[in-house]
Amino acid sequence: MLVDSYGRTVDYLRVSVTERCNFRCQYCMPEKPFSWVPKENLLNFEELFLFMKVAIDEGIKKIRITGGEPLLRSDLDAFIKMIYDYCPEIDLAMTTNAYLLKGSAQKLKDAGLKRINISVDSLIPDVAEKIAKKDVLKKVLEGLDEALKVGLKVKVNMVPMIGMNENEILDVMKYCKKRDITVRYIEYMENIHAEVDIKGMKSEQLLALIGEKYSYTDEGFDATSPSHYYRCEDGYRFGIIEPYKDDFCAKCNRIRLTAEGNLIPCLYFDEAMSIHDAVKRGDIQEAALVLKEVIRTKPEKNRWSEADGEASTRAFYETGG
Ligand code: 5AD
Ligand code: SF4
Repeated sequence: MLVDSYGRTVDYLRVSVTERCNFRCQYCMPEKPFSWVPKENLLNFEELFLFMKVAIDEGIKKIRITGGEPLLRSDLDAFIKMIYDYCPEIDLAMTTNAYLLKGSAQKLKDAGLKRINISVDSLIPDVAEKIAKKDVLKKVLEGLDEALKVGLKVKVNMVPMIGMNENEILDVMKYCKKRDITVRYIEYMENIHAEVDIKGMKSEQLLALIGEKYSYTDEGFDATSPSHYYRCEDGYRFGIIEPYKDDFCAKCNRIRLTAEGNLIPCLYFDEAMSIHDAVKRGDIQEAALVLKEVIRTKPEKNRWSEADGEASTRAFYETGG
């Protein structure tokens, strides 16, 4: 079992398989980065899998594949199958923009993927295009329906932004309700890579808006989920992710691995340790030592809410958010 210095059990690993993306979401990657990590610096799936085995042996129980856009990496299903075959009990999930999902959902499901989170920031084609800087909506919704059809469990993420998609908050909820999937509204997290004039919505504003139409009760947090859940009178459950709230970190159970092999204890801070050379050498013991050191140095909490906080300049598309 992996336990950090504050008594938190770390059992969740997020693996970013690429920082590249076919969208340019305003809140994440509005411009193509000046340069991508050169392909030769990336770990291949065998190398990443070697670390997955180490992590699973040490106590990781949930793995989420992220990016960038993970489906840009070919043979992703083969990587998923490696993990599944090693440990079928692992809670194997992926976060994707769903643009390429229609043609791959069945393969991913067959490989052992269980759950998928999809971003749906708007249901209006022009607004979706404005947010992602590409005409994406049709393909995203087709991908989402395909994921449901093949039996993947789906959740939807929406980043509500004032003057952009705030008037669609209830529409996205209705869309999800109809398909019996959970929507989670994510408070916009400021970062230097995002478009400068984004105004995110805070949970209080969101709840006020939802409250005008539906009455709901506060269900608090599920075990280790960062999402605060609410239940509408008709039984529908939605979530809000509030990274600026004080208690956000208290239950943090996660670490992150980038496609280059940097292991990151906390999204907020710059600190990271590399497993790149260890897995290239096939040195399982060294990889396990780095993993334990990263757990040991995991900070108690982020400093999003502090005026003098110094957030990492690392992009969310590098770390998978
Ligand atoms: N603020 C909030 N959420 C973000 N995401 C990416 N960047 C940000 C940000 N700056 C979320 C998107 C997407 C997931 C991959 O990460 O909602 O669903
Ligand atoms: Fe790509 Fe996701 Fe970032 Fe949008 S939020 S640009 S889909 S990595």
